[in-house]
Amino acid sequence: MIAKTEEDFNGLKEIGKIVASIRDILVQRTIPGITTKELDDLAGELFEQEGAVSAPKSEYDFPGYTCISVNEEVAHGIPGARVIQEGDLVNIDVSGSKNGYFADTGISFVVGDGEEILTKICNVAKKAFDAGLKKAKPGSRISGIGKVVFQTANENGLTVIKNLTGHGVGRNIHEAPDHIYNYNDKWDNALLKEGMVIAFEPFISTLEEQVFKKDDGWTYVTEKSFVAQIEHTIIITKNGPIIVTL
Ligand code: CO
Ligand code: CO
Repeated sequence: MIAKTEEDFNGLKEIGKIVASIRDILVQRTIPGITTKELDDLAGELFEQEGAVSAPKSEYDFPGYTCISVNEEVAHGIPGARVIQEGDLVNIDVSGSKNGYFADTGISFVVGDGEEILTKICNVAKKAFDAGLKKAKPGSRISGIGKVVFQTANENGLTVIKNLTGHGVGRNIHEAPDHIYNYNDKWDNALLKEGMVIAFEPFISTLEEQVFKKDDGWTYVTEKSFVAQIEHTIIITKNGPIIVTL
């Protein structure tokens, strides 16, 4: 969407704050021994307390309030009986709506002490996010964001996932612009606009550049890579991007 009115900005900030706080609480609770279903049940309670609705559930009939992906899972992991272990790479992605406004946020992190490479991909995802954010200006090419995400990955001996992308958000969970790639798509001449609301989510990978869908119909996995993501909902403005999901 293009945020124009004060109501738009306030509505986006309100749902942004809600999904960010659910994300942070779930990250805190992700300790060895807990199942991803227990984490997701907590998210369900928090959505209800806030008078907000889980977007994957309401828009896609996803079997969970949040997407929780562990190790080989990259995105859209279904909360279930999987028990979190020390050293796991976990991604928690929380998106929801309130009063007709949507926001989307996610983060990858390592539980306790893990392999160094896992911490590294999480840190590089953050660097890629910060680099992309600097390119998030009205009038700039959308693909300029992907360009610096890819560069950041490369400089660190890593790569990106090319078939998972950021997207427009605001009045729905996925809307125009359909794709914000993690690399420079030379054919994409679309420009960022004043007030445009996007979910920017770099995916940094150790090796592979494609994910594939598991038989469960939801979960995206790789064969032999680890992948980290960071996602925030941002409003593009001439005074700099506003991150509503901090
Ligand atoms: Co998300
Ligand atoms: Co998203």
